[in-house]
Amino acid sequence: MKIAISGKGGVGKTTLAALLAQVYADQGRDVLAVDADPSPCLAGALGFPDELREELHPVSEMDELIEERTGAKPGTVGGFFTLNPRVDDIPDRFSVSHRGVRILEMGAVDIGGSGCICPESAMLKTLFTHLLFRKDDILILDMYAGVEHLGRATVDFVDVMLVVVEPTRRSLGTAAQIKKLANDIGLTRLWLVGNKVRDEQEARFLEDGTPGLPVLGYLPADLAVQEADRLGHAVYDYVPALREAAETMAAKLAEEVVAIGERN
Ligand SMILES: Nc1ncnc2c1ncn2[C@@H]1O[C@H](COP(=O)(O)OP(=O)(O)OP(=O)(O)O)[C@@H](O)[C@H]1O
Ligand SMILES: [Mg+2]
Repeated sequence: MKIAISGKGGVGKTTLAALLAQVYADQGRDVLAVDADPSPCLAGALGFPDELREELHPVSEMDELIEERTGAKPGTVGGFFTLNPRVDDIPDRFSVSHRGVRILEMGAVDIGGSGCICPESAMLKTLFTHLLFRKDDILILDMYAGVEHLGRATVDFVDVMLVVVEPTRRSLGTAAQIKKLANDIGLTRLWLVGNKVRDEQEARFLEDGTPGLPVLGYLPADLAVQEADRLGHAVYDYVPALREAAETMAAKLAEEVVAIGERN
């Protein structure tokens, strides 16, 4: 399953991406966590040790390799290039693994807006397929804040999109925009995840204000989340309430996706 996580800036996309990645990894799944933020921080949220993070190079530094393998310069649209470039040696050069989660940083590569007919997109698609070849494998895509990245190419990388909101009208406004754009590009499996929720009332605010998206679950507001960040610990280890909420969401998501599959 390929899960993208979107939402307004600062709502908790990276926190949720890290939690879900570790939940699935601890279930024994192969997990590829992709940080699509140009200023990456998913590795930190997953508690990757500094030595490993130093080894990590963003895909945007792959320019020469993309040209070598596809026969076209990244950034070009149209023209001829290989649609199934060789990628088998790339994972070890551009990603690192820790506790069952393999992480890949995109750097400044835009996977959504550039459209599906470009060399870097062909490279990434082949790479993801190469890394995730079993049905149970999980791809978690921590997306760039906002809506600009939601181009047609996104659909190729995503089965399910989780839209994170906090109990504010503004984050619900962004969720409504994301829903519209996602539906425009044919992505219909969307769920809302409420984060930083302090009480019943805030949960109800989100439930009442949802732009027609079903609510997958809520993550409680907890100052320990920021403390984990300061201390360099994974929220998954440091804040049990959030880990448990993420486990519940992963279970619910599995049920919902199966249910959709049966209806279709
Ligand atoms: N449940 C929570 N309770 C308290 N603080 C939280 C919670 N979830 C996230 N935070 C804090 O909110 C801030 C933003 O979280 P995070 O980085 O996950 O958001 P983001 O949506 O990925 O942000 P960006 O748009 O910058 O990528 C961080 O300081 C994080 O520690
Ligand atoms: Mg983030």
